[in-house]
Amino acid sequence: MREEILSPREEPLDPVADEPGLRPRNLGEFVGQSELKGHLGVMLGAARKRREATDHMLFAGPPGLGKTTLANIVAAEMNTNIQVTSGPALERAGDLASILSKIEEGDVLFIDEIHRLPRAVEEVLYPAMEDFRIDIVLGKGPAARSIPLELSNFTLVGATTRTGLITGPLRDRFGLVARLEYYEVDDLQSIVLRAAGILGVEITTDGAWEIARRSRGTPRIANRLLRQVRDFADIERDSNIDAEVASDGLSFFGVDELGLDKASRAVLESICHRFGGGPVGLSTLAISVSEPTETVEDVYEPYLIQQGLLMRTPRGRVATPAAWSHLGVVPPPSAQPGPQNGLFG
Ligand SMILES: Nc1ncnc2c1ncn2[C@@H]1O[C@H](COP(=O)(O)OP(=O)(O)OP(=O)(O)O)[C@@H](O)[C@H]1O
Ligand SMILES: [Mg+2]
Repeated sequence: MREEILSPREEPLDPVADEPGLRPRNLGEFVGQSELKGHLGVMLGAARKRREATDHMLFAGPPGLGKTTLANIVAAEMNTNIQVTSGPALERAGDLASILSKIEEGDVLFIDEIHRLPRAVEEVLYPAMEDFRIDIVLGKGPAARSIPLELSNFTLVGATTRTGLITGPLRDRFGLVARLEYYEVDDLQSIVLRAAGILGVEITTDGAWEIARRSRGTPRIANRLLRQVRDFADIERDSNIDAEVASDGLSFFGVDELGLDKASRAVLESICHRFGGGPVGLSTLAISVSEPTETVEDVYEPYLIQQGLLMRTPRGRVATPAAWSHLGVVPPPSAQPGPQNGLFG
């Protein structure tokens, strides 16, 4: 399989944990997400049988859950090439047209962060996805001519951390729209054990469980924590990784019992300590923790919400009683949820 980088991608958030050797290469190696894997297995199998390109797919979900990995797996399973680009890299309609015109029969075109495609570029994608055709416009004004260009059949794979920002017409053109969910602890445990095998790290199943439990449901974080705990075990304990070493190593690196790291805790602490438990608006909250609003919204909040620590309400972000108790502080009376202070008040 040949992988072409057609446009510079933005730096991955965590290049070390994304080391290529750890990335599952086929559906069989991809742990968890069993429903999605089932759907993919059928779609890819049917396309292979008919010797056609498989339908376009959109993978949505928080960072580090395996969207890029799945795009590569689709190409590997179809035994085709993958061309990689991203929404922000495609600035003009011509950028996309030139990629599409070079695509070969059956190829996978992977557009990462597809919610950041400029509108004019997105419009080029519609006929390309539907009819494998684009119209190239030559000239301007009344003299402009449009020349149709036939494309090879290809599979578009889009990835996004924000389904909400995908326009209806684009979304409707995908044959499969899949949302990746946070992983169960036992799946993460398998991921940690697999990565440990690849990296040659000695770890017990209990040690892997402890890392999995504190990985915030995210394979990328599981891989990162495994490396940190390995370093801790090497230097501080000179031993293999069992549950106790894992737990001490994670605490050493500032990962708490629920798996929250310093940055995620800072979000909760800010809501509780500076804003009396909320409600506080997203942009104010983001400034208070010195992060871009997008990062707070896409990276930190989804897991805090999933854990029932934070709520998004019409008036802003609110810390739940579970957040106060996790931080080990008693909420002031004003932060007690009650009818006068309810969600939609
Ligand atoms: N199901 C899985 N099984 C095993 N490892 C996985 C799985 N999903 C992801 N990983 C590991 O996690 C890393 C991050 O996955 P990936 O880059 O695919 O996430 P992503 O959803 O594209 O994230 P982003 O939104 O930040 O681009 C991969 O390099 C891989 O090692
Ligand atoms: Mg990715």
